[in-house]
Amino acid sequence: MERDRRAHWLETGTALHYARAAARVGLWASERVMIERHFRREHRLLEVGAGAGRAGLGLLRLGFTDLVITDFSPAMVEMARGVLAEAGPGWEDKVRPADMTGLPFPDGAFDGVLAAFNALMCLRGRADREKALAEIRRVLRPGGRLVFSANDRERGDNREAWARHAPEDGLEPGERWHDSPTSPVFMRSCTEEEMREELEAAGLRAVGSALSSELAEDGPAVRAFAGVTRLYAAERP
Ligand SMILES: C[S@@+](CC[C@H](N)C(=O)[O-])C[C@H]1O[C@@H](n2cnc3c(N)ncnc32)[C@H](O)[C@@H]1O
Repeated sequence: MERDRRAHWLETGTALHYARAAARVGLWASERVMIERHFRREHRLLEVGAGAGRAGLGLLRLGFTDLVITDFSPAMVEMARGVLAEAGPGWEDKVRPADMTGLPFPDGAFDGVLAAFNALMCLRGRADREKALAEIRRVLRPGGRLVFSANDRERGDNREAWARHAPEDGLEPGERWHDSPTSPVFMRSCTEEEMREELEAAGLRAVGSALSSELAEDGPAVRAFAGVTRLYAAERP
C-alpha cells in the first residue's frame, strides 16, 4: 500500500524537532542574504510551509513584521504559535493554518512569499508542486517575489549518493523516502534546471539562484540541520 506522504508532518514529534530548530538553529546567514536581497521591511509577506516558525521568527526579529506565517499541519501551527508567543508580544497571532496548494488569500495580496528549507520539496509530488506554485503566483502582486530553498541533488552535500541512486518504482527522479529523527519523510531533491523549468511552467521568472555556501558561511548548527542547499528567488512578471 502507498505510504501517506503527509503523515510525517502531522506528528507532534516532528513539530517538536522543528520547534527546537526555531530555538537552536534560527534563520541561516544564507537565508538572511536572500531575504534582504529580495524583500523590503515594508513588504507584506507570506510564509508557506513554515514549520514551527524558525524562519518566521528570524524575519520578525529582523523587522519584517507585516508577515503571515502558515503551515498545513495543525501540530506545526500549534508549535509555531508557542514558539512565537514566547518571542514577541502578539507574534503568535501571525500564525494561520493554510495548505499552500489552496491558499486562503486574495489575488495579489502579498509583495513576497517565503518557502524556507524544502517547504516546496516535501509536497506529495509534482501535481501538488504545480498547484502550490500556481497559488503562490496568484497571491503575489506583479513584481512580487518568491524566495525558497531546495536540496540540489547535483551540487548539494548528497550529490555522490544521488549519482549512485537508482530511480525507485513510482517515484520521479530526486524523490525519495529519507530517515528522520521521527518517522520516514518523503522529499524531493531537484537539479537547478528542473527547478527553473517548474518555475517557468508556473509563470514565475527565476531571478536568483545560489548554493547556501556561496551566499554566506552558515554556522555548524545550520550545517547539521540542513547541509548545503540551494536558495532561489523568482518573480511574478
Ligand atoms: C522541511 S519542513 C520546513 C519547515 C520550515 N519552513 C523551516 O524552515 O524550518 C516543511 C514544512 O512544510 C509543511 N507542509 C507540507 N506540505 C504542506 C502543504 N501542502 N501546505 C503547507 N505546508 C505544508 C510541513 O508541515 C512542514 O512544516
